[in-house]
Amino acid sequence: MHKEIVDFIQDIYGAKDFLPLHEPRFIGNEKKYINEAIDSTFVSSVGKYVTQFEEMMAKFVGSKYAIATSNGTSALHIGLKLVGVDENSEVITQPLTFIATANAITYCNAKPIFVDVDRDTLGLSASKLKSFLEENTFVNENGECINKASNKVIKACVPMHTFGHVCKIDEIVALCDEYNIAVVEDAAESLGSYYKGQHTGTFGKVGIFSFNGNKVITTGGGGMIVTDDEALAKRAKHITTTAKVPHPYEYIHDEVGYNYRLTNLAAALGVAQMESLELFVEKQRDLAFKYQTFFKDLDIEFIREPKDSTSNYWLNAVLLKDKESRDAFLKYTNDNGVMTRSIWRLMNKLEMFKDAQCGDLSNAEWLEDRVVNISSSVVL
Ligand SMILES: Cc1ncc(COP(=O)(O)O)c(C=O)c1O
Repeated sequence: MHKEIVDFIQDIYGAKDFLPLHEPRFIGNEKKYINEAIDSTFVSSVGKYVTQFEEMMAKFVGSKYAIATSNGTSALHIGLKLVGVDENSEVITQPLTFIATANAITYCNAKPIFVDVDRDTLGLSASKLKSFLEENTFVNENGECINKASNKVIKACVPMHTFGHVCKIDEIVALCDEYNIAVVEDAAESLGSYYKGQHTGTFGKVGIFSFNGNKVITTGGGGMIVTDDEALAKRAKHITTTAKVPHPYEYIHDEVGYNYRLTNLAAALGVAQMESLELFVEKQRDLAFKYQTFFKDLDIEFIREPKDSTSNYWLNAVLLKDKESRDAFLKYTNDNGVMTRSIWRLMNKLEMFKDAQCGDLSNAEWLEDRVVNISSSVVL
């Protein structure tokens, strides 16, 4: 069966010695726009492409504002700061996520709390969140959500749309509203994914995206903060650009800011990639349906988009019977030139987060042993 799978994947991509998990595709104006940026000499923070990229992203996802950053991790860090996460705060997130989600919480000197995911969405579970909040928290007279165990304020919640599959974001936002918890949506992997017709990243107070080389579109390295809140958008731009107060010739900074801006060169790449985004998502969905049909006949479940959502199928994933079958699958495919990867080790099992408070994590643990990502580069 393993050989059949490797043959199928190699057929899709045209057999090569080595097939990476997710390669970028540059089929449009990438070189033209980058050359224009070089010719203009505006290669760093100033230049037309940063603004153009921000405008294109805001329009595409349907948010009022978009602020480009150096990467998705810095976007998350700032997103959390925007909603007031600090050293006295705690932040709920899922244990099954890329490390950046938990790292960004730690950059704010806040503590993460890990709440389980759903097996069908792979993202934060609304029902587990509800029981966690009911059992472990109360809302005090100032309207703050207090964690009974630590007596600290739970300021934010970071749901993540795993591999582009959308979690039950409307239920999560409604619950967080009830407890006065700000939602910072980690939509790093879900550009081009929708829940009931609304783009991911636009449900929470703030949403973030990543344009790392392995994402649906790339700027080499880059990120974006999206929000409908004008004050937050202005603050995001200010603190990601060293908190410099506009002045014709003096350097005045009114707080400790960050050099988290996206360069004009990277944004030039981003603008060109945005022009291909719809095509890429369409092709990703075609590929996913091919996989779905193929795996139907095998004893391996292909992970499909959850109910009520349209996934960008950024990273295709299958579910093996158990850890032993998963390991055999990983070994065979990687030994035979087809890169596959297990899902992330749970955050609470990593040294830095081993003392973090956790809810019941049975779904995350179950998925951790079984999920494998398979080749997902856009097939043109
Ligand atoms: C879920 C998630 N959050 C955050 C990030 C961070 O993005 P970046 O690598 O651009 O810093 C990534 C991916 O890279 C991610 O997958």
